[in-house]
Amino acid sequence: MSEAGYVGFRDGERAERIDTSVAHNARVWNYWLGGKDNFEPDRRVGEHIHTMFPVIGEVARADRRFLARAVRHLAGEAGVRQFLDVGTGLPSADNTHQVAQAVAPDARIVYVDNDPMVLVHARALLTSSAEGATDYLEADVHDPASVLAGAARTLDLDRPVAVMMLGILNFVLDTDEAVAIVRRLMDEMPSGSFLALTHPTVELGGEANVPAMKFWNENAAPPIRSRTAAEIGRFLDGLELLDPGLVSCARWRPADGEEPVTVPQYGCVARKP
Ligand SMILES: C[S@@+](CC[C@H](N)C(=O)[O-])C[C@H]1O[C@@H](n2cnc3c(N)ncnc32)[C@H](O)[C@@H]1O
Repeated sequence: MSEAGYVGFRDGERAERIDTSVAHNARVWNYWLGGKDNFEPDRRVGEHIHTMFPVIGEVARADRRFLARAVRHLAGEAGVRQFLDVGTGLPSADNTHQVAQAVAPDARIVYVDNDPMVLVHARALLTSSAEGATDYLEADVHDPASVLAGAARTLDLDRPVAVMMLGILNFVLDTDEAVAIVRRLMDEMPSGSFLALTHPTVELGGEANVPAMKFWNENAAPPIRSRTAAEIGRFLDGLELLDPGLVSCARWRPADGEEPVTVPQYGCVARKP
């Protein structure tokens, strides 16, 4: 600790600061996933939300399992070799590059997040296979032009890209802006690209998201919102939704023998024709 409430660190020439006094999404998400990269305020808020919305741990785990199934499909059957993972989160089990490169060692992955804590841990995201590549970009999704410029350092945007937006559009509060961001990213990608997304909802039995998100917005950062299936459908305009469509992410192509429990987190994968 360099001073009360802050952890200072150096990233090359830059000194970044992590505010540990206020709960932050990447760290609380890590707490719900059973990780250790979080601080006392993160755990306090995470625990309180857990009492209001007991399914939150299952939501986080279902979201990560969706990521693994979606990436396996994209790198496997769909033959995608490039991934742009926007709103990466802190490294966890089965990060996008590990899942993709287990199927296709030559896969190239760019991670994007704006939380300085994720940057600190980015080394764990940069452990690429020799045949492939990974890069980490510190950027804000509200600025899709810089996301695209940074992605182009590692990805060939003339070849198909799977754009992963898992649990991130819920932090873009204005739906018109969120739609414009998705459109800007997907417009830059060629035919045969994909969009994979997950998003919290008050549908699918998620009514308790209402008080839980109110508590979050009063006590943590950044502010969050839920969306209905109809609102999420706007992100998919012009794209072809893969089966089984927009469903609880736990129910998107569950593994053989898996008995999925519906969680109030939508998930889908769509292809750009
Ligand atoms: C709920 S976590 C999801 C992590 C991962 N995608 C997953 O599904 O497990 C959301 C992530 O989005 C990041 N995030 C939030 N707002 C962002 C923004 N404006 N720009 C970039 N990343 C953002 C947070 O820092 C956090 O790591």
